[in-house]
Amino acid sequence: MAALRDLKASEMAASGGDDAIELGKRHLIQPWPYAGSVGAEARALIGEGDGIYITDNTGKRLIDGPAGMWCVNVGHRREELARVMYDQAMVLSYNTPWYTMNAPSAELAMRIAGHAPGDLSHVFYTTGGSSAVETALRFMQFYNNVRGRPEKKLILSRGGAYHGSTYLSASLNGRPRDRDWMDGADELVIKLSSPDPFRRPQGMSLAAFTDFLVDQFRDTVARVGADKIGAFVGEPVQASGGVVIPPDGYLKRIREICRDNDILYVSDEVVTGFGRLGHVFASGDVFGIDPDMITFAKGVTSGYFPLGGVIISERLLQELRRSNHPDAMFGHGLTYTSHPVGCAVALKNLDLLEESVLAHAQAVAPYFQAQLKTLEDLPLVGEVRGSGLMGCVECVADRESKDPLQLDKDVGKRIDAHCHELGLLVRPLINMCVMSPPLIITREQIDDMVGILREGISRTMDDLRKEGVWRG
Ligand SMILES: Cc1ncc(COP(=O)(O)O)c(C=O)c1O
Repeated sequence: MAALRDLKASEMAASGGDDAIELGKRHLIQPWPYAGSVGAEARALIGEGDGIYITDNTGKRLIDGPAGMWCVNVGHRREELARVMYDQAMVLSYNTPWYTMNAPSAELAMRIAGHAPGDLSHVFYTTGGSSAVETALRFMQFYNNVRGRPEKKLILSRGGAYHGSTYLSASLNGRPRDRDWMDGADELVIKLSSPDPFRRPQGMSLAAFTDFLVDQFRDTVARVGADKIGAFVGEPVQASGGVVIPPDGYLKRIREICRDNDILYVSDEVVTGFGRLGHVFASGDVFGIDPDMITFAKGVTSGYFPLGGVIISERLLQELRRSNHPDAMFGHGLTYTSHPVGCAVALKNLDLLEESVLAHAQAVAPYFQAQLKTLEDLPLVGEVRGSGLMGCVECVADRESKDPLQLDKDVGKRIDAHCHELGLLVRPLINMCVMSPPLIITREQIDDMVGILREGISRTMDDLRKEGVWRG
């Protein structure tokens, strides 16, 4: 029998993929497991990917609604990307970043800096998004230590945020349930409100809500003391929190407060970067802000290789170089920092984005948003929102209370199960379904995607009614 890893989805279908599922249950620990099923859980087995589609072990072809984990931006099975990884591995598969360097990482840093706003000029590479956020925070600590401000270390984060799964990055997370059973560096983090217009107090205008958020930020800085706060970390659009689009002008005003108080503004573009909002980075091109650091990952390689990084402002680096502590060492680096294969595939991925994919994403985004918005006529749907090629369908018991919890808490999972049957993979998030397909999706494919989603939600409404859980 062929080794499992060599089986194509079609061959898996012959055996139902049973062997792999059994092995997975016996030997894999899945991310985000529950205690009651940890180490004993099988998830949908995916065998192949092609363009915007993936195929499961039964041979069923599905639209990859979340593009993996918001990452397969240029689509699956791009031969150019596969080839460049092979070619680079045959030239130089690895070099130690401790005391050597390689050309692809330097060239990529130059090209990334060229797309970044303001004076962001230098890149530190990591293995993904969590390690990118972790790096930005450790850099902030180092920067303030060297500048003689060891007290200036607290971090501002927000409800609804997701910044990673390493200890410090996870401490910033603000989504419900993420931290119920987990420890964190709570003494280092101050949480502010999510800029979620859908969840603003009833009757409050958007302008008043924006003022409330900005006042809360300013008041917190005044109360705690700017001399104690090192950084603010925020996603331009909160992704895993449910595609929260901040009100107009909010990010700019927060940026100004950070500048006035010498608080480093870290823009977490792990999801929004590399085309998701139609540009390589959204901070400058979409929101008009110039952060002190931008973190990125995922779409930088379209998920073909685990790579992330932080882009750091020239100003911060100059301040360090001019400090009174030229011997102070930033004791931070990863074995895979500046990985040549990762950087080579990222260069090719950036070629594809620049040549056509960004322009395509910009062209289809309004259609994608308009089609998703049509789902608002379904009574289970409280709101459809989005930007670029990311969208969220939020389900509520009723539009008055906007209560997600009177419904079955896992209504997103129910919708996902129906959509899977119908040929679409959904990213379920409690009462929400998040969509962020590969950026190469066409109008016809958007029609298919939204059609399946509509049917999946309709079937879920029928189930909920039959079970007496919902009377919409
Ligand atoms: C905004 C944001 N930051 C950081 C991360 C963590 O990235 P990774 O899972 O690559 O460590 C994620 C992951 O989804 C994310 O959405």
